[in-house]
Order: sequence, then C-alpha cells, then structure tokens
Amino acid sequence: MRCKFLLFGATGSIGDSTLDVLRQRRDDFELVGFSWHNNAQKAAAIQADYPRAQSYSTAKVGHEAELRRLLDLEYDFIIVAIVGAAGVVTTLEAARRGATILLANKESLVIAGDIVMAAARAAGATFVPVDSEHSSLYRLLKGAGALETHAHIRCAYLTASGGPLRHLSGDDFYNAPRETVLKHPTWVMGQKITVDSAGLANKALEVIEAHHLFGLPYEKIQAVIHPQSYVHAMLMASDGTVSQHVSQPDMRYPIAHAMYYPGEPPVDTVKGNTPESYPLFEFYPIDEKKFRAYALGRKAGQMGMYHSAVFNAANEAAVAEFLEGNIRFGEIAELIERALDAKYAAYDHTTIAGLLQYDSAARALVSQFAHTT
Ligand SMILES: NC(=O)c1ccc[n+]([C@@H]2O[C@H](COP(=O)([O-])OP(=O)(O)OC[C@H]3O[C@@H](n4cnc5c(N)ncnc54)[C@H](OP(=O)(O)O)[C@@H]3O)[C@@H](O)[C@H]2O)c1
Repeated sequence: MRCKFLLFGATGSIGDSTLDVLRQRRDDFELVGFSWHNNAQKAAAIQADYPRAQSYSTAKVGHEAELRRLLDLEYDFIIVAIVGAAGVVTTLEAARRGATILLANKESLVIAGDIVMAAARAAGATFVPVDSEHSSLYRLLKGAGALETHAHIRCAYLTASGGPLRHLSGDDFYNAPRETVLKHPTWVMGQKITVDSAGLANKALEVIEAHHLFGLPYEKIQAVIHPQSYVHAMLMASDGTVSQHVSQPDMRYPIAHAMYYPGEPPVDTVKGNTPESYPLFEFYPIDEKKFRAYALGRKAGQMGMYHSAVFNAANEAAVAEFLEGNIRFGEIAELIERALDAKYAAYDHTTIAGLLQYDSAARALVSQFAHTT
C-alpha cells in the first residue's frame, strides 16, 4: 500500500527535493494534493506528472477553503514546505486535525510554537522534522533514548555553515551585495532561507524550532559554525561525550527519513557516500557581534510571549526589502532590532489572531524604517 500525502509549497526548493524522492519511490508514496503560490508554470508541470492530485494556489482569494478541502482528503501525512509566516495557518489547521506533519516551515513554530504544540498535543498530531539539523537531532535523541526526557543530555548542538559571508567583516559584511549573499557555499535553497543563512537569522529560527519540537530548554541548545555542513547536529551527554550525525548536505536525506517515519528509508536516497567523502570537520563559535540577527533571534525566543513572532516578521520584512534592493545587508539586523525594541499595542499573544497582529505591526514598522532611513 502506498502512503498518501499532501505537499504544501510544492513549487519551492523543499518541494523539488520531495518530488525527487517521490520520483525514486513511486511504489511507496502517492501525492494526493499540493499547493503552490505564484509559480503557475511549475505547478502545471507537477500536475501533469500527478494528474490525480488535487491542487490550489494560495495566491487566490478563498484559498483557506481550498486548504480545508485538501485536509479533508484521505492521507497518511502532510508536508508543510511553504516559506515564511504564510505557513502557520496550514501547520496549525493540520495540528488541530491530529495529522502527521512533516515540518519544513520552521516559521510556524517560531511565530506560534506554544499554540501549535498545544493544539498538536490536544488532537494527537505528530511532528516529524524535515530541517536537516532537526532531523539529525531527532535521530541522535532517539538513539540516546532521550526523546522524552533530557536529564542525561548536557547540550544539543545545531551546526551552521557560516554562509557565504563567513570570511567577511566590517563594511564588506554590512554592504555584501545580493549576488554574494545568495551564493550559499554548501546548500541549494530558496532565496529567503539563503539570506537568513548568510546572517545566521536562520540559526536563531532553528534554535526556537528545536525548543518547541523537542521540548529542550534554550540553555541546552547551542549552535556552532561548521563550514563543511557534513555534521548537522551533535549531542553532548552528561559525561561530556559527543555524538554527531553526518551526511552530505542534501535535503533529500532528511526528507526521505521523514517520509518513511517511523521507519527508516530502505536504500540510499543520495548515492556515493563513504567515510573518505567526509575529509574535514571544523567547528568554530558564532561571533554574535557580527551575526547580530542570530543573537537577537535567540534572545527573542528566550523572552517568549510575542517576541519571537516579532523577530520572525521583522526578519521576513527586512529580507524582502534587501532582496528588492531597498536596504543594505547589514540593515537587516538593525531593522530587526528596532522592531524588537518598539512598543506595540497589547494584542493577545496567547492566540494566533493576536500573534498575527504583532506580525503585521512589526512588518509595517520595518517597511516604514526601510523607506525613511
Ligand atoms: N530549502 C531548503 O533546503 C530548506 C532547508 C530546511 C528548511 N527549509 C524551510 O522550508 C521552508 C521552504 O523553504 P524553501 O527554500 O523550499 O522555500 P522556497 O523555495 O522559497 O519555496 C517556498 C514555497 O512556498 C510557496 N509560497 C511562497 N509564498 C507563499 C505564501 N504567501 N503563501 C503560501 N505559499 C507561499 C512558494 O510558492 P511559489 O513558488 O509557487 O510562489 C513555494 O512553493 C522554509 O520555511 C525554510 O526555512 C528549507
């Protein structure tokens, strides 16, 4: 029996890797529905490959009803591969229905982790990580018998490549041009996450994601720079020994692992791995003065309430301004900091509606700052 699944955000980079795994495993999986946003041409190509799959565009008026229509279909799991805050509604709706959710959209948990995880617990939904670091951490925690209790875990480490600006500093870092920022040294990804990776905002988003996914306290989650991107996560036990999870930087590994949950993929998804293909492992601490967005995001996560929703919204809005050529790269972190320092009306941060009001207010501020400085 083939496992049926829905793919939200099918036209993106995670969508591409998922569809590649599906092409290799047509006997195991069946795509029954998918969403896309603006890329009609790519959506048409996917539809041609999977004519029985139902689909809709999230850019169309009334797409919320389409989401519910797809979630009413019969399926074994869903994949949320939408980029940014736009994914939170899909994730929350699926959590409320008790679905098995393969989550790439880390922003869902950054904006509303407490609400989404509470909904998942109440309805019996399961989250399976797709982000490579979280997929690796899941395997390490499972191997250590530490998925439920973290008593004998001293620290979980997420790795960051350091991105294309790792060797730049001062004005060269601040004024890095768009082409340089978008040239990631190890991963091929969508534009937004590639910019997030250059300033390490992405790693802050991932720390918050790990906190919600695994229930780890922030002081037990650290990030380190590992330029080769072979080691995705590490776990330090209470006796100081460290376990690492290693693979080539290819999203098809964690995606296939998630698709076969709770089992293991039967064969290699990516060919050609031997121990000699991993020649060098370097690790460096993160310079939080240079990578300010990382420090700001981490702090926002620890502050809880609405702060991580504001961090996420300000980051998304500032990245969009950078990609449109309206601000310099270094201004992304500055605008995030100004948005976090701003005073907001007292919206209800315990509801999704309230958090989305913080999201809108932070975006409006960033837009105003970007166009008046
Ligand atoms: N790429 C990676 O390797 C990677 C690794 C780990 C985690 N992630 C996470 O996975 C998610 C997707 O990343 P990605 O790199 O695949 O992004 P991407 O290439 O930019 O693709 C994003 C997908 O979201 C859709 N989308 C864009 N705006 C939308 C909106 N307002 N409402 C609904 N859908 C919208 C896009 O549709 P159209 O293209 O049709 O407009 C596309 O299908 C992000 O949360 C990212 O952090 C990505």
